[in-house]
Amino acid sequence: MTQAVGTAYERIGVGYGGHRREEPTWRRAITAALDPATTVVNVGAGGGSYEPHGRTLIAVEPSTVMLAQRPSNAAPVVRAVAESLPFGNGAFDAALAILTVHHWTDPDAGLAELRRVAARQLVVTWDPEVVGSSFWFTRDYLPEALEREIGLPTVREIAAGLGSRTAVTVLEVPHDCRDGFFAAYWRRPRAYLDPGVRSAISAFALLDQRLVDRAVRQLARDLDDGAWAARYADLASYDSLDLGYRLVVAD
Ligand SMILES: C[S@@+](CC[C@H](N)C(=O)[O-])C[C@H]1O[C@@H](n2cnc3c(N)ncnc32)[C@H](O)[C@@H]1O
Repeated sequence: MTQAVGTAYERIGVGYGGHRREEPTWRRAITAALDPATTVVNVGAGGGSYEPHGRTLIAVEPSTVMLAQRPSNAAPVVRAVAESLPFGNGAFDAALAILTVHHWTDPDAGLAELRRVAARQLVVTWDPEVVGSSFWFTRDYLPEALEREIGLPTVREIAAGLGSRTAVTVLEVPHDCRDGFFAAYWRRPRAYLDPGVRSAISAFALLDQRLVDRAVRQLARDLDDGAWAARYADLASYDSLDLGYRLVVAD
């Protein structure tokens, strides 16, 4: 596994919390998969989305910009990276890592650390290959987003990095998804015209903005003249879609 992004959230994390709220269906899936863990570490925790209530939780987050967005009543947080967790072996029942592994400098080392500090590991991630073929934005407007992500960890690699007893669950993206990640607005295309929405999505924020601007201008034209509505008319009949997001659980 290779990795290219590093701690870019010092730059791109500004305003993240404004558009990245918890998606309730994902919270339910994550909470259910945590049971019966009572002690949890949330690695790459950001502002604290999906952190479970009623359990003992410590968050780990390297970016000061993201740390500043944690609510005052959020769980205690340690400034550290996944690749070197400041905890003893088996310190937690479960380790969470939500939409963060593809930002780690060394995903293999980070996954090994999750295994070292916790008996169970839960990773929410997305498969670049599935997103590339199933999401209209990458496929038809911004294939460069996918090209940039070649080499990021696939779901298969993450499962392998967590060991042999892994289960992979599809996390569908509802049409009104509250967590504004890349594919969240698949049925609300006008959202992608909003620079604030795009700035909270690393696939946009880390790309050459000239490419993003070109894609967004094309989308705006297609929305205005009805081409988008005609081409993707079938999307209106879906309430949720599998766009490559996965929950990987390992014991
Ligand atoms: C897309 S955000 C996800 C935040 C949160 N888990 C959520 O679901 O909203 C990715 C997070 O990973 C963090 N991150 C980047 N590199 C990291 C590393 N090496 N170790 C731990 N976290 C890292 C970023 O600072 C950022 O907060």
